[in-house]
Amino acid sequence: MKVLNIGSLNLDHVYQVDHILMPGETESSSSLNHFLGGKGMNQSTALAKAGVEVYHGGMIGQDGQPFLDACKEYGIHDEYLKQISGETGHTIIQIDRNAQNCILLFGGANQKLTKEYIDETLSHFDAGDILLLQNEVNLLPYIVDAAYARGMQIALNPSPYDAKLDAVDMTKISIFLLNEVEGNQITGQTEPEDILAGMRRRFPHAKIVLTLGSDGAIYQDEHQKLFQPIFKVQAVDTTAAGDTFTGYFLAGLAEGLDMAEVLRRSAKAASIAVTRPGAAPSIPYRQEVLDALAQ
Ligand code: RIB
Repeated sequence: MKVLNIGSLNLDHVYQVDHILMPGETESSSSLNHFLGGKGMNQSTALAKAGVEVYHGGMIGQDGQPFLDACKEYGIHDEYLKQISGETGHTIIQIDRNAQNCILLFGGANQKLTKEYIDETLSHFDAGDILLLQNEVNLLPYIVDAAYARGMQIALNPSPYDAKLDAVDMTKISIFLLNEVEGNQITGQTEPEDILAGMRRRFPHAKIVLTLGSDGAIYQDEHQKLFQPIFKVQAVDTTAAGDTFTGYFLAGLAEGLDMAEVLRRSAKAASIAVTRPGAAPSIPYRQEVLDALAQ
């Protein structure tokens, strides 16, 4: 079984600020750092660092060479990653004194996927392979339909949620990884238990992971429901915490681990990532996660 992630690659421009800007306000930042990110790239990085054979699909612009270098460094297969004219996606991220962030996204090459590109990329994958998606690339409805027709299992992290997701046939999704905001958008419910119940009603055969920030995460499928608390740490940058959890979760599933262990590893990996600055570079390798769990 192979994992294909068709997802975003962003150059993250990260500004350290006292507080996140209010409308009309001007504030000086105390530092500026540049990191590789994008929900797609972060999740592929987490999968690869967790030891999974992952193929990253998507598009970068002429300034995207650092992503090709990072794929080599982390062991992500990049043969389906396409370099096109124009700019790679980028973000402007503010990190405040409590390590919370806000993100302004510019899609760039992430929004230039074509049906021909999708068909050609998917042609290298078969029934049983996993396709991972987020909502930072274009053509999601087409990608979901085409991958489903091939018999692939589809995992969706519907983030960031916007109206474009309404066009996706979510009955074709096998695994949802979502937070309360995204769960609210899909089910109309606000309380975690109600969101889960709403998801179960609409997608009775799906595996569902509902992340609750500092309140942990809940997993539910047809047979079991499990709660995973967070590991408390001193956070410096929460960017990519969810992506780390997602990558480690799919890695645990692919490895056939017991679900309680899958959740424990995912939460531990995310807790390590938030103690470091940046997105993709902050994600820990498998051995580091296992060593930390053994302590
Ligand atoms: O989930 C974090 C990521 O969201 C950042 O790396 C940024 O690029 C945005 O896509």
